[in-house]
Amino acid sequence: MSARIRFEPDGVEAEVPVGTTIKEAAERCGAHLGSACGGVCACSTCHVYVKEGLDDLSAMEMAEEDRLDGAFDVRPNSRLGCQAVLRQDRGYVVEITRESLEAFFDEYPELRGGR
Ligand code: FES
Repeated sequence: MSARIRFEPDGVEAEVPVGTTIKEAAERCGAHLGSACGGVCACSTCHVYVKEGLDDLSAMEMAEEDRLDGAFDVRPNSRLGCQAVLRQDRGYVVEITRESLEAFFDEYPELRGGR
C-alpha cells in the first residue's frame, strides 16, 4: 500500500509506503521542509498545513501538541512533518509553512535560488 503526497507551494510529489512520515516523504522527493532537530519533535521547523488527508494521519501525541504551541501561525490543520505518519493508501496534500521553508533555506542556502 502506498500513499501519494504533494507538497505546496512547489508542487513536488512523492509516492511512499504507508507508514512513512511527512518528513521522510519530503526527503524522498526533495521538498523544502525544514527539520532543524532532525525529526525528534524538538523544534517546530517541520510545521505544515495539511490541506488533504488530515483525518488519515496518525493521531497527534502530547509531545507534538506541546511543540506546536511554540510554532508560528498554528491552524486547525497544523501538524509537525516529522511526527505525522501517512496512514492510508490515498493522496495527501500539505503546504510547507513559511517558517519551515525559511528553516530549510537557512540550512541549505545554496538551494535558495531567487527566494
Ligand atoms: S524536525 Fe524538529 S520537530 Fe520535526
